[in-house]
Amino acid sequence: MSPVPNAQATTPTKPFLRTLAGLPSARPPIWLMRQAGRYLPEYRETRAKAGSFLDLCYNPELATEVTLQPIRRFGFDAAILFADILLLPQALGQGLAFKENEGPVLDAIRTSGELARLDANGIHKKLAPVYEAVSRIKAGLPDECALIGFAGAPWTVATYMLEGRGSSDHAAAKTWAFGNPEGLDALMDILVEATGAYLERQVQAGAEAVQIFDTWAGVLPEQEFRRYCIEPVKRIIARLKGKYPSLPVIAFPRGAGVMYDGYAAATGADALGMDYTLPVSWARDHLWPKTVVQGNLDPRLLVVGGQALADGVNRLLRSFPQQRYIFNLGHGIVPETPVRHVEELVRLVKGMQVSA
Ligand code: CP3
Repeated sequence: MSPVPNAQATTPTKPFLRTLAGLPSARPPIWLMRQAGRYLPEYRETRAKAGSFLDLCYNPELATEVTLQPIRRFGFDAAILFADILLLPQALGQGLAFKENEGPVLDAIRTSGELARLDANGIHKKLAPVYEAVSRIKAGLPDECALIGFAGAPWTVATYMLEGRGSSDHAAAKTWAFGNPEGLDALMDILVEATGAYLERQVQAGAEAVQIFDTWAGVLPEQEFRRYCIEPVKRIIARLKGKYPSLPVIAFPRGAGVMYDGYAAATGADALGMDYTLPVSWARDHLWPKTVVQGNLDPRLLVVGGQALADGVNRLLRSFPQQRYIFNLGHGIVPETPVRHVEELVRLVKGMQVSA
């Protein structure tokens, strides 16, 4: 297949893609993690129409609608495909359900032997509605707005596959990391291959950049961080860049702390999503401007709003002036966020009303 779909082959014109390419822009582009979600009344309405969260993910028409809702309302510079990182394990054959107020529940993999249950052959057939959604979103986007595809990083996806649900201590995955590293390596191999293939298809369908979410990168000691967070992401990015050399890749190793230092060079990521605990002054000194950075307003500040929000926004805009910075939150927007606070945030960033 030819590498034609990569829209980055020429100098990009969309502000989000220009910033990722290191080109200057009048103001930082803005989008928000989980920008399509329950804080929006129109999302809740569409989700009710779809039936369940998973029904919504697999309905290209409605997934397109909820992806575009925050773009219409706020004029963000990028749209992110509406889907979930756990669709991939489901496509590999693992049972998945989203229980109301409980989050995801999967049929946990308990032993290395059970990895044989995973089957990579049928993933594209199962994920076809996602690729169709990507094409439809691309067709419906305003000219200036870029489309981000995404996947979970293998480590984060593995924590759910092995635990069977979200957990606070990641006991199952860490037990594999320390007690059965060859077994976890085998799972990483499966996920690296499937994730690379999944992201490639998203790019072919129209994604102009991709983000890799490593939500639980912050729970591993150094050696295991290198083996299960850096290595797998590096292999996925190498594959993507081999096919699409100018495809921008954003990595979000949440909670990685000082391990953010060197992470972009080690993985080949073009940009780093900063979580809200990463000190901005440290990021400015150690990551930026060599690496494009994105983030990291605390989502709770967006719930609080008012002067506290304005101060937080100003601090970020002052810290990363002119280029190589994408405005975002330091994790996903929470459901109780008032819509008018998001409007205010966009106004502040687009107006660049930085006060001294
Ligand atoms: O950012 C976007 O708007 C795009 C869509 C998107 C969703 N999930 C939709 C979603 C993206 C990029 C994700 C990524 C994702 N999913 C991550 C990594 C980022 C992060 O937030 O840390 C993780 C860990 C998941 C797994 C997941 N999905 C969990 C743990 C939950 C339950 C928690 C919750 O908020 O309910 C989900 C559900 C989910 N994924 C929702 C949405 C909009 C809420 C579902 C609903 O409508 O009820």
